[in-house]
Amino acid sequence: MTQVSPSLLSGDFCRLYRDLEMLNASEASMIHLDVMDGVFVPNISFGFPVIKAISTIATKPLDVHLMIVDPGRYVSQVRDCGATIMNVHYEACTHLDRVVQQIKQAGMKAAVTVNPATPVELLSDILDQLDMVLIMSVNPGFGGQKFIPRAIDRTRRLRAMIDSSASNALIEVDGGVNLSTGRDLVEAGADILVAGNYVFSAPDPKEAIAGLAAL
Ligand code: DX5
Ligand code: ZN
Repeated sequence: MTQVSPSLLSGDFCRLYRDLEMLNASEASMIHLDVMDGVFVPNISFGFPVIKAISTIATKPLDVHLMIVDPGRYVSQVRDCGATIMNVHYEACTHLDRVVQQIKQAGMKAAVTVNPATPVELLSDILDQLDMVLIMSVNPGFGGQKFIPRAIDRTRRLRAMIDSSASNALIEVDGGVNLSTGRDLVEAGADILVAGNYVFSAPDPKEAIAGLAAL
C-alpha cells in the first residue's frame, strides 16, 4: 500500500470545503499544501491563514511544503497553523541542521526537499535526523508540469542510502505523478506519492487516489 498526499494546489479554491470533504473520505494518507513566496519560486500560492482554516476541516495530517526562502523563520507559525510535517528545501536553508532540529523541537515531523538538480547524496550527513525526504520530480512552482524521468533513479539512489544507514526516513516524490510515473517511483522505493493535477482533474478524484494507493 502506497501513501498518497494529494496536493490541494490543484483543488478549487472557491470550493475548498468540498475538496477537503472529498479528501477526508478518500484513501489519502495526508494532505499536501504548497506554500510559495514568489522569491524561492516564480509563483505565489497561499499562506498560514489558509492552512489554519484548512486544519479545522481536514481529518488527515497536513504535509506542508514550503517553497520559500529561509523557512527556518516560520517554524512556530507552521506548527501553530496545524502542520504535522514541515518540508523545507535543502536549497533554501543555510543552516539546515539547525532548522531540522527546530522543526522537531516544535513537535513536527522534519522533511527536507531536494530540487531536481540537487544530488540526493548531499543529504547523507543529515539523513538520520529526518522523518522524510521529498524528491522534486518537477522544478517547483507550478502544478501540472511534466515529470522529469531522472527522479526515478534519484529515488532508487536515496532508497539505497536509507536502507544502508540508520535512517528511517520515508521517501516522498512530488511533481507530474500519475499512475504510470507513480508505479515506476514505487518500484524504485518511494513511500509517498504527491499528486495534484492527476487527482483533481480526474472524473472521480477519490478513485484516482485509490488507484495510486494501490500501487
Ligand atoms: C509544485 C508543487 C507540487 C504540485 C504538484 O511546485 O510542489 O506539489 O502541486 O502538482 P502535479 O501533481 O500537478 O505535478
Ligand atoms: Zn509540493
